[in-house]
Amino acid sequence: MDRTHQLQSQRSRYFFTAGAALAKRLAAFAPVAIFAATFGLTAAAQETERDLDDGDRPVGTGPVKQAEDPSGPRRHFRLKNPAVLSGKDAERLYTELKSDMATRYKLSRQPGVENYQAWKRYNRAPYPSVSHGNRYVSNYGNPAAEAYGRFEQAGRLPVGSILAKDSITVSEDGQAMPGALFLMEKMEAGFNYVSGDWRYTMIMPDGSLFGTTNGEGTERVRFCISCHLAVEKQDHLFFIPEEYRQN
Ligand code: HEC
Repeated sequence: MDRTHQLQSQRSRYFFTAGAALAKRLAAFAPVAIFAATFGLTAAAQETERDLDDGDRPVGTGPVKQAEDPSGPRRHFRLKNPAVLSGKDAERLYTELKSDMATRYKLSRQPGVENYQAWKRYNRAPYPSVSHGNRYVSNYGNPAAEAYGRFEQAGRLPVGSILAKDSITVSEDGQAMPGALFLMEKMEAGFNYVSGDWRYTMIMPDGSLFGTTNGEGTERVRFCISCHLAVEKQDHLFFIPEEYRQN
């Protein structure tokens, strides 16, 4: 098998790990299982959530309570009944939380966390993202990622582009709290063929690093690559739902 074929088969393997098989593999690792449950990837992952919950709190009875106290232990689950908010309400809750969020994410010292909120924001209001754990998310791009604003016409983004997606969780009764920060940074060619040279990073709301491609916890952020591979033709970018876009 020559090099190109090797790479191609490597890539198909990644692609097909998306979905149930991936979630099962993820469920083998406890911290990752918490995360898989957070994202509600599959029924298997949710089973794991139930296991982890036992003895901790009543299961399946609505929004998570522990994480509401910022000084208390933080655990991250997918909200069972994410509140349905108007754009205006989502924006108001986000405005209240965002400087606290920035302070937390900065603790991770990852590229992009320092001042992402000063970058251009491409969504009018936080919108619910099922793919990112049913959280209300906002998307920012650094100056190098300017082409992101052309959305499907953006082409391949240049090296040094960073996209940052922060998130808040909103419980059924309207209480909001910081969620994770999701980053994509375009690295030099050859960094990671399968990810299209994107480095995926996820930072927890307490500022700890969950994982970063080719670095600490790289296996935990592989599923980011798998899902984003579906839009490989547009440089692995999904873009924002049309009704929330702004330039
Ligand atoms: C199940 C599919 C799926 C998974 C898993 C996933 N994403 Fe995404 N991602 C999306 C979709 C769909 C969008 C665009 C719509 C939205 O915001 O929900 C997106 C958008 C993004 C964006 C904005 C750039 C763009 O594509 O428009 C970033 C940054 C991002 N994701 C980072 C991550 C990171 C980091 C992870 C892993 C921790 C991850 N994503 C896991 C589907 C996924």
